[in-house]
Amino acid sequence: MNLYQLHYCKTNTYLLESDLGRILFDTGWAGTFDAFLREAGSLKISVQSIDALFISHFHPDHMGIAQQIADLGPQIVILDMQASFLHASDSIFAKDPTLSFVPIRDDAVRILSPTQSRDFLSTLGFEGELLSTPGHSDDSISLCLDSGECFVGDLNPLYELPLHQGTQIEGSWEALLSRRPGAIYYGHARPYFCGSQKTVPPEDTTVNVDTRDDRANSLPPENTTGTADAHPAKDDHNLYLLVSRIMRGIDKRYSMEKIQRKTGADPRLIEDVTRMYLTHQNVGVQGILDRIEIKNR
Ligand SMILES: [Fe+2]
Repeated sequence: MNLYQLHYCKTNTYLLESDLGRILFDTGWAGTFDAFLREAGSLKISVQSIDALFISHFHPDHMGIAQQIADLGPQIVILDMQASFLHASDSIFAKDPTLSFVPIRDDAVRILSPTQSRDFLSTLGFEGELLSTPGHSDDSISLCLDSGECFVGDLNPLYELPLHQGTQIEGSWEALLSRRPGAIYYGHARPYFCGSQKTVPPEDTTVNVDTRDDRANSLPPENTTGTADAHPAKDDHNLYLLVSRIMRGIDKRYSMEKIQRKTGADPRLIEDVTRMYLTHQNVGVQGILDRIEIKNR
């Protein structure tokens, strides 16, 4: 199995390749289609050769170009419990015609039960299954391969698990961990390699995933409070205040330009915070800090 991370948007999207087929897991925000094509081209992957597209959940930063990709050949394949969420983000994209968003065509979507997903994956040369893993959202799924790779989208990270006892998040992690994964691939964080469990990567697996930042594998930090950031405490505090000021600006429906004038924040940070704040229900400042890549700002 070959595994590629596609670098064209702020969501981690993956391409899995076997001798029999190719699977794409997640896409980026609407408006990233051209960048997706360039990235696929740079990897010498023909989009037409991709068989299936799985979406971890139907928040806009994971499904924004799904139909545009599907129009070139890959079939959108979902778990049955995702069927009523296909258009959950359409109204967000409808506000910005410049994004050229294309809603998903329901009649072209293939719907599987978790049991059927194993047979479907097998036809493409993968042993594994799709699991319903709610917690971040009701429509969240994970792709778990028997070889140890688990793709979990935005499920709250494993190091947060003690904070979620008795919740759906704990139940989802229990289901995942019972499969003894060797590596967890998140929607917005670096992969986490579970060293003591299955050996990763397996000998016959090529993993083309950028792991230069070992942040995920260093978790949980000894004094963890839910953040993985390595800034000094004062910088952390200033960043926390800055993000909360940006969120107040969003609440007041200020434009990005106005938020920048008022806060002096980097436009890329404002964009990241806006994206996370608008697409993740009830997320707080710390939740945003956990999910966006602050360190390069
Ligand atoms: Fe999400």
